[in-house]
Amino acid sequence: MASLLESERTSVRDGFPEGFLWGAAISAKQAEGSEGRGLTVADLQDFSPENKAKVKGDLSSDEIRDRLEHPDRYCFPKELGIEFYRRYPEDIEMLSGLGLKSFRFSMAWSRIFPNGDDAEPSEEGLAYYDALLSCLEAHGIEPIVTLYHDDMPVSLATRYNGFLSEHVQDAFLRYAETVLRRFAGRVRYWIPVNQINLTRVGLSSLGIVRDTVEDLDAKKLQGVHNKFVLCAKIARLGRELDPSARFGAMLADFLLNPLTCKPEDVIMATQKNQMTMYFYADVQLRGHYPGYALRYFRDNGMDVEVRPGELELIADNTMDFLAISYYNSNVVSAEKNTMAIGDYIVNPYLEANPWGWTVNPTGLLDGFLRYWDRYQVPLMIAENGFGQVEELGADGTVHDDYRIAYLSEHIAAIREAIRRGVDVFSYCLWSPIDMVSSGTSEMRKRYGLIYTDQDDYGNGSRRRYPKDSYAWYRKVIETNGETL
Ligand code: BG6
Repeated sequence: MASLLESERTSVRDGFPEGFLWGAAISAKQAEGSEGRGLTVADLQDFSPENKAKVKGDLSSDEIRDRLEHPDRYCFPKELGIEFYRRYPEDIEMLSGLGLKSFRFSMAWSRIFPNGDDAEPSEEGLAYYDALLSCLEAHGIEPIVTLYHDDMPVSLATRYNGFLSEHVQDAFLRYAETVLRRFAGRVRYWIPVNQINLTRVGLSSLGIVRDTVEDLDAKKLQGVHNKFVLCAKIARLGRELDPSARFGAMLADFLLNPLTCKPEDVIMATQKNQMTMYFYADVQLRGHYPGYALRYFRDNGMDVEVRPGELELIADNTMDFLAISYYNSNVVSAEKNTMAIGDYIVNPYLEANPWGWTVNPTGLLDGFLRYWDRYQVPLMIAENGFGQVEELGADGTVHDDYRIAYLSEHIAAIREAIRRGVDVFSYCLWSPIDMVSSGTSEMRKRYGLIYTDQDDYGNGSRRRYPKDSYAWYRKVIETNGETL
């Protein structure tokens, strides 16, 4: 007789595996600034002090035109970013002080092709990412690269309606191919598109200008299908160029629990989780459109135009891993909510930050157990963090014990998932440095381990100051997650 727990065919882990990729994540649109690249839809999202909570992300064609014609009337924080474009050598130097093992960043399509569909790529843009990769290599930091982090070049949205158009799909593929060829062998982990399930803001996720299409939900679904096809083509080419390259599907975690144990709430949560979460990963990881989704489309009068060979292409080129961005978790009620992503009720048992984002590390553990059960592919945290209003103290730092508490509880949840048999290979917190907020274009919604001296209007020295959480994360990495 032999011991099951000691068998070579089984393994029981007590903590993070050796070689775990302790990381941090940023995006081009929030960090780099627009110097040296073309304008994107993200740049046009302004910061409105009178209406902070409702800064518009989903601009109409009139709103886009107005911003392009009268930039002086607006404040565009993402155009400035935090000047990562210029400051990356010092920023990476500072991050390497953490002992960081991986760094997730996005490349800006508009830096390689300023209008998105130019005849030739910009050598300056390619040289920039070349230099950034060299800098990471010099510090022994593994890059994890996102190709599209919701920053469609403007004219591709206004002239072609983004990923709905074949022209734009071809242009994206050309950008991806240019980058894959140039950096083959230097990037092991690729995430072709950020948060494929988060289509709430159609302009950023899909480049669709909402008032120029009829039947927006059906159009978004078509755009998502086109993205599935693009991801499959990118993975196929990337693996040809570098067989060791790995490609990830990425979801924003919107897993919901029922508000009550009423059967109607329970089935609503199940169906909503299917349609706003699992559907996307089922297609990208299992390789086919699931039956529940086809039923939902039929019942809701939606359909997708599929070109010959596309379904086979998706089936033959599934993704290698699942990346999740996890911030909070919520609940759903059959009486009060619709099927729309983002339509939920705040869980009354949880505390929230000033933006109403709840804190629920147990939800992260629960989600990882569910993803692993369902997909059996390696998982990573692509983003996880806590936004708060903060000021630099007279002692030149920020005592962000609340962030340390948040991150430590969430990392403990990942450790527990690993203890329960889940394969997790990386944790990238959001974010290493304060950046412009994606949703509201504010600077004051700060997530960083490092404070950036810059306000909502771009004023400030832009100097970086480590917060208390910086030293704390260094210790976490040094002890491979033993000390939290
Ligand atoms: C994620 C995005 O969904 O949420 C990030 O991928 C973003 O780009 C993060 O920054 C947090 O959102 P926000 O609006 O607080 O910046």
